[in-house]
Amino acid sequence: MDWTAIREGDVTMAQHAELGQLLRGAFAHLPGLYPGVRTWSSLRPEARVIGHDDEGAAAAAGVLRRVIQVGTTDQLVGVVGLVAVRPALQGHGVGGDLMKRVNAYLADLRVPFGILTCADERVAFYQRAGWHRLSPPRRAVFSRDDTTEAAPFVDEIERNTLVLPVTAGLDDWPDGDLLWHCAPI
Ligand SMILES: CC(C)(COP(=O)(O)OP(=O)(O)OC[C@H]1O[C@@H](n2cnc3c(N)ncnc32)[C@H](O)[C@@H]1OP(=O)(O)O)[C@@H](O)C(=O)NCCC(=O)NCCS
Repeated sequence: MDWTAIREGDVTMAQHAELGQLLRGAFAHLPGLYPGVRTWSSLRPEARVIGHDDEGAAAAAGVLRRVIQVGTTDQLVGVVGLVAVRPALQGHGVGGDLMKRVNAYLADLRVPFGILTCADERVAFYQRAGWHRLSPPRRAVFSRDDTTEAAPFVDEIERNTLVLPVTAGLDDWPDGDLLWHCAPI
């Protein structure tokens, strides 16, 4: 597997076509989310980490730096999403390798923290990769999608917000609700 970290403006149309195929395969349970070369669902990432083999894009993730409000603190974070491994390769360590590269890329960006949210069944995967679930669960207020018309923000207790201490320590994560003022990618 060849791994690369690439800024969004340098992703070629051929790579978007491969990423679209990868995302449709990995998120087959969410049909229609990634039509054609639409290779993001709500917010477009600013960079990708991509693993490539003879068949094309085999694993990928997106990264987007944002400032989100945590309690009263404006916190710089690297939001991670669009994490996908080609279905035929899942369960053999490729996702773990991908997250090592994602973590390293966040270190290159020198963000204090990475952040992501995920379904219950994915928490263990991210914890294996060094991420920490915020405990107790936090109130999170976020938009589902910033790319179409305005809609009421979701306001809920989010069980699975995970953070990665990058240049900061885990104890430095601010107290308080997570007020995204945007959509997580
Ligand atoms: C989630 C996903 C990226 C994981 O990739 P993968 O290649 O299957 O994962 P790996 O085989 O590298 O697993 C990495 C580690 O996590 C562990 N792990 C993976 N899934 C797990 C689970 N559901 N529960 C517990 N541990 C899990 C593995 O045992 C492995 O541990 P090890 O390093 O000690 O062996 C992949 O399954 C995928 O693309 N799923 C569909 C899309 C998706 O759900 N993306 C995430 C959205 S939040």
